[in-house]
Amino acid sequence: MRIPGLIDPHVHMREPGGEHKEDWDTGTRAALAGGVTMLLAMPNTRPSVTDRETLRSALAAAASKAHCDYAQNLGAGSGNLMDAASLAPYTGALKMYLDQTFGTLKLDNMYDWMRHARNWPAGSPLCVHAEGPSLATAILLAQVYNRPVHLCHISLRSEIELIRAAKERGIPVTCEVTPHHLFLSTADIPSIGLGRSEVRPRLSSPNDVQAMWDNLDVIDCFATDHAPHTLAEKNGENPPPGFPGLESALPLYLTAVSQGRLTMDDVITRCVTNPRRIFHLPEQPETYVEIDPAETWTFSAANTFTRCGWTPYEGYRMTGRVTSVTLRGRVVYKDGKILSTPGTGRNIRPALPE
Ligand code: NCD
Ligand code: ZN
Repeated sequence: MRIPGLIDPHVHMREPGGEHKEDWDTGTRAALAGGVTMLLAMPNTRPSVTDRETLRSALAAAASKAHCDYAQNLGAGSGNLMDAASLAPYTGALKMYLDQTFGTLKLDNMYDWMRHARNWPAGSPLCVHAEGPSLATAILLAQVYNRPVHLCHISLRSEIELIRAAKERGIPVTCEVTPHHLFLSTADIPSIGLGRSEVRPRLSSPNDVQAMWDNLDVIDCFATDHAPHTLAEKNGENPPPGFPGLESALPLYLTAVSQGRLTMDDVITRCVTNPRRIFHLPEQPETYVEIDPAETWTFSAANTFTRCGWTPYEGYRMTGRVTSVTLRGRVVYKDGKILSTPGTGRNIRPALPE
């Protein structure tokens, strides 16, 4: 069975500054193995991507290493208001953090939220990390400044119900949900392990997970929030939040399709059509993923391309597997092997001028 290449609008590549967790080579190999042919990279690297120079160096790393197509997002900071708007054409989206997570990009000053929401071009995507009460703030920014706002990794019943109400009133918000907020809950913490279960937003209650399934029509995108940290870090003193997700996401969706919980159309709408529209992404000609929807197999970190060395889905029985990936007419992944060379992936935004 042939499906279009998936678009993942929320991926952490870790380069520069976190290459021991992932880099543009390993991260985009993982993307292809998961049927993802285009991704947006988040800016909470070290240093964070917040200006022309840091954007240039992230794009240079991507250009030399990426195996799939990509764009690099810019982080909203307290000092980069004018810079940010001028860089909009060359970035995937502006990412604004209203809540604390991995990295240093959280904005505490409400004026910063207002200025970025007003200043960032309404025709360029704005993504917001906002949980609980700050989600209500993010929705209000969309309404007050009359601009699209994309709400990252929604995980609570209250959040999805508020988004439904906002959409019913015509407020221009869209949202994404991660596989781990669809397929895992607090009930899985003992088997995953306490430190390894750290993720932002946290794993939610079974009731919240059910709310995602009950409100599937409100969910615009599935996004992995692929956030690799090494097994040693996850098992250590101060485990950083985040799960790898690129290689397990499509198998989890296909398994749900095999169980009748999702349709293939549900998956393609949320993993291709909607992200392409929301983030203004180009079509990828002659790009598709061959899957065997019936193959049952066991997922294991031992067979993944991510550098982080673990998965919260160790030992999961999956039904449905990626057999090959073709990117712009070239077979780039087949039967568990990457066939592309680093640098095959293209920046889907215009090149940053010298
Ligand atoms: C992300 C990371 O590690 O970069 N962690 C996470 O738990 N999701 C940051 C983020 O997306 O919030
Ligand atoms: Zn993230």
